[in-house]
Amino acid sequence: MYISDTIKYVGVNDHKIDLFEGQYTVPNGMSYNSYVILDEKCAITDTVDVKFGEEWLCNIRGALGDKAPDYLIVQHMEPDHSANILKFTEAYPDAKIVASKQAFTMMKNFFGIDFLPNGIVVKEGDTISLGKRTLTFVSAPMVHWPEVIVTYDDLDKALFSADGFGKFGALDAEEDWACDARRYYIGIVGKYGAQVQTLLKKAAALDIKMICPLHGPVLKDNLPYYLNLYDIWSSYRPEEPGVCIAYTSVYGNTKKAVEELAAELKRLGCEKIAINDLARCDMAEAVEDAFRYDRLVLATTTYNGDVFPFMKEFINHLTERNYSNRRVAFIENGSWAPCATKVMRSMLEPSKNLTYLDTTVKILSAMNEESLEQIKALAKELVE
Ligand code: FEO
Repeated sequence: MYISDTIKYVGVNDHKIDLFEGQYTVPNGMSYNSYVILDEKCAITDTVDVKFGEEWLCNIRGALGDKAPDYLIVQHMEPDHSANILKFTEAYPDAKIVASKQAFTMMKNFFGIDFLPNGIVVKEGDTISLGKRTLTFVSAPMVHWPEVIVTYDDLDKALFSADGFGKFGALDAEEDWACDARRYYIGIVGKYGAQVQTLLKKAAALDIKMICPLHGPVLKDNLPYYLNLYDIWSSYRPEEPGVCIAYTSVYGNTKKAVEELAAELKRLGCEKIAINDLARCDMAEAVEDAFRYDRLVLATTTYNGDVFPFMKEFINHLTERNYSNRRVAFIENGSWAPCATKVMRSMLEPSKNLTYLDTTVKILSAMNEESLEQIKALAKELVE
């Protein structure tokens, strides 16, 4: 991948991974990006996942030849980027590690070694000159861990953005950026919207021509498009009009109600409807849909005086990530003491600025004339 004459890609693609960060399915794999910045002095940003240490060092040798790097910049200590720090110091004992103070503490915790004697602690606004260019470090706490720094290169006008602007999928996979960047962002960084907003404000003061994240492609063209999506996601605004329906169904009756609702919505001209069967779908995809669209319908059964487990998990994912600023409706099913709507509503209490629709669909075991009418009323209210 060509980035610039003086920034070389030395990252790796992982097609063997089953679950990224132990929970996210990544059918198209994952990339762990690493960059060599060539100048009078040479810097590398971040290492890669533990499985790829040798391949990464080989890539570095390919970019540098016999030259040794002067710096390893550690922007983020999560092991998908930091696992090979020790291996790097063994290969290049004279190179200095550049990181935030908290990152050095984490290094000690992860490796049992104090890297500070051979390190440079940097904080907001600190700089290192490589020769023709100056690298400026910008603190980005909680995007996605507290120790994170991002790095600005004033020569190539590149922002090395750590996890920010990353996506699922290896670099040799052909896929839409927004789809897998959204699922990645909402799942992994979604809770930290305020911190992302702070970083975006800092980035707005820089002249950025390219963004080099630690996952996914380097972004060069149409940067306002990516920055605008990050602004929307991190401010918890819906990205576009549409209805996300998330449901669970034990014997198919709640599913039938969802299908009726979707058909009615279509009849009324609603074009974007995303239906997620929470017991069977990719949960992260369902969470992504809830954040993407401006309306959400939750449909589930009463279960053990509570709601069905997958719905519980789903709502917890939403509230954990500050779900807010949407219109929400409920469909509940229950055979003897239905309470699903009450439970779901109380679970959503931490969410800000939710508008609940007047119509709630109540199913007593199976749909009847009454519940069918409620579905029609709900569809109408949803498209109003
Ligand atoms: Fe890609 Fe937070 O690590």
